[in-house]
Amino acid sequence: TPADLIWPLFVTEGQGVEDPIASLPGVSWWSVDGIVSRAKEAVSLGIPCLALFPNTQPDRRSEDGKEALNPDNLMCRAIRAIKDACGDDIGVLTDVALDPYTSHGQDGLIDDAGYVLNDATVAALVGQSLNQAAAGADIIAPSDMMDGRIAAIRDALEDAAHVNVQIMSYAAKYASAIYGPFRDAVGSRGLLKGDKKTYQMDPANAEEALREVEMDLAEGADSVMVKPGLPYLDIAIRVKQAFGVPVFAYQVSGEYAMIEAAVAAGAADRDAMVLETLVAFKRAGCSGVLTYHAAHAARLMGA
Ligand code: PBG
Repeated sequence: TPADLIWPLFVTEGQGVEDPIASLPGVSWWSVDGIVSRAKEAVSLGIPCLALFPNTQPDRRSEDGKEALNPDNLMCRAIRAIKDACGDDIGVLTDVALDPYTSHGQDGLIDDAGYVLNDATVAALVGQSLNQAAAGADIIAPSDMMDGRIAAIRDALEDAAHVNVQIMSYAAKYASAIYGPFRDAVGSRGLLKGDKKTYQMDPANAEEALREVEMDLAEGADSVMVKPGLPYLDIAIRVKQAFGVPVFAYQVSGEYAMIEAAVAAGAADRDAMVLETLVAFKRAGCSGVLTYHAAHAARLMGA
């Protein structure tokens, strides 16, 4: 049902802006006012939650990604505007990682050799999480894959009296070739040198996913995510069976783009593919799915 869906949206600067994202046909960057309209649309469709990502202007990106800590950054302005307009009618899930803010496109702080530093990054992620929670985020979703960040973020949220803010951990996140269009959408594709394999997982390794999930749950995650989606359904069901906690799947940007490319080539029926792929996540035990097709799917479900 539409209640199973989380709708990822990309925020950009300006007023009245809707800018199509070429590698994600049908998905646009929206300025904050447009994001508020999408939030109202989600409420009317019965979609309970949005996932927000910023397209940070190049002149606000830096080596240390400190724009992530700015209380007036694009994300915080979007969160506040949604909450002002819709209150508790919609949940706001916010991505925690530095890649939309760094000049090098990595999710964390790097040393001179470009190596991503785990512990220094965790401190920055704690600041980013508190910034988003203060703006009104309901669910903090760390997508950075640093070790130990869930415990650090949970402690900081408790200390700051954000006791009801949830954490949905991107616990089993693979170093995947299927994130390309997303990197266009947050403006990091051209900046990223190398890859994210020192912190995201090896696609050949299933056991590590269970260890990552176990750690994040022990550290205080309320729910966990498996990412990408369909090619990793085996991981989703194993996590569900091993831990019995709410498991979410992210049908990522490249999966969306593959469906749209197949439709554009006349090789597939969009509506049937959208519904069948979403049902597959539910069959595998997922509590919900992040999908760029959320609004379309909700309408297909008769919302
Ligand atoms: C980065 C992040 C990524 C996605 C969500 N958060 C990309 C990456 O790790 O490079 C991918 C989502 C998608 O492809 O739709 N913190």
